[in-house]
Amino acid sequence: MDAGPQTNDSFADALKPGTELLHGQFRIEKFLNAGGFGMTYLARDSLDRIVVIKECFPSSMCCRSKGNVMARSRQHQAEFDAVVKHFGAEARRLSKLQHPHIVGIHQVFEDNMTAYMALDFVRGRDLLDTIEDPKMKLHPRDVKDILLRCLEAVHYIHTNDVLHRDISPDNILIDGKGNPVLIDFGAAKEEATRASRALSALHVVKDGYSPHEFYIAGSTQDASSDIYSLGATFYHVLTGEAPPDSQARVSAIAADRPDPYRPVSGKFPQFEDAFLHAIDKALSVFPPDRLQTAREWIELVDTERRRSAALAQAELDRQIELSISRLVKETNQAVEADIKMQQVKQAAERKEAQRLQKLVQEQQRQRKKTLDELAMLDDFEFQEEQQRARELSANRSANQAHDQMNGTDRKKKRTLLSRVLPFGILRGTLKGNRRSDYL
Ligand SMILES: Nc1ncnc2c1ncn2[C@@H]1O[C@H](COP(=O)(O)OP(=O)(O)O)[C@@H](O)[C@H]1O
Ligand SMILES: [Mg+2]
Repeated sequence: MDAGPQTNDSFADALKPGTELLHGQFRIEKFLNAGGFGMTYLARDSLDRIVVIKECFPSSMCCRSKGNVMARSRQHQAEFDAVVKHFGAEARRLSKLQHPHIVGIHQVFEDNMTAYMALDFVRGRDLLDTIEDPKMKLHPRDVKDILLRCLEAVHYIHTNDVLHRDISPDNILIDGKGNPVLIDFGAAKEEATRASRALSALHVVKDGYSPHEFYIAGSTQDASSDIYSLGATFYHVLTGEAPPDSQARVSAIAADRPDPYRPVSGKFPQFEDAFLHAIDKALSVFPPDRLQTAREWIELVDTERRRSAALAQAELDRQIELSISRLVKETNQAVEADIKMQQVKQAAERKEAQRLQKLVQEQQRQRKKTLDELAMLDDFEFQEEQQRARELSANRSANQAHDQMNGTDRKKKRTLLSRVLPFGILRGTLKGNRRSDYL
């Protein structure tokens, strides 16, 4: 936003080199700039590193007295206190943002009865200096690269519910490696103008860069407002000047006159059509006609990223396809191996069953053979016994006849016979191998 005129008063009120802040933690080296809302200094921290210090110094309502910043009058006191409070709160909110293309805030503190923030020092120059320097010719590739990095930063702040509100070539620093860094967030200034009647007179717009809604008190400001300012910034990079201010454009449209804006599409052959078209679209007067998000803009412009994303996707698809076919092959191999193993196992089991069957058959055969042999033995013994019984019976008959003839005591002889006769039968029983035992 318009920093306001740098009056001699502003310079006079600036902290002198060597002034210490926060009990000696920072030492002012050099005054850099005075805006309507504050002063910027180069300083060194306690570790002797260069930092940038921003001091809340709304010059229209305050002055410095013995180092301290105080309201110019009693009527201004409450407003001044409110502005200091907003400055500190906004600085603390911004200190939570961490992005390579957003200036880092590493300390927020109060001293001299006002608020301060200590920022990382970005060694380089701002984009305005760069494009205005005839010796510095930015290559289209560099322009595109700077834009894409700025868009990444803008996307980041928007997803963190922060609007920059003051994007312009002088608020983009380009460091030694060509990286852009966004500085000078305008939200604290916006809050300050709301909190103070004295400040509401200050311009919170930057002609050419601010969208028309910034000129209307209480209007809706959203992501597309920052998109407009970034569009205006890159319009300036391409054409060498800021676009016509949005108020003039709205007035022309309202009066049915042609929009004084001259589109960049088709005028810069060194840039792709999509790149130029995106700038024109970002610079649409009415918010709904603009690109709505930084992400949308990135996708439109970044053909290389789109191409490499498509290539990466194709490669991913190829890898997935390869993995799937490898998986299918491995599964098939595993299934085949499993089937083979099952078959081998089944064959072994069959063989074992056959072996056992043969064994049983052999055992049965052996058993039968043994039985038959035993039976034969049994029969033979039986026949022997029968023979012996027959012989005994014949003997007995012969003896009876003899006794009858010789008058021998019969009773005595029968007793002798009965001792001999059952002996063969008893013998077979004791051996336990009678035929009936095996059948
Ligand atoms: N972090 C920083 N590193 C280097 N220079 C800076 C840094 N912040 C601010 N400056 C310098 O100080 C100038 C004013 O700072 P800025 O934050 O834009 O305040 P304002 O525009 O409100 O006065 C910038 O244009 C830039 O030259
Ligand atoms: Mg600035």
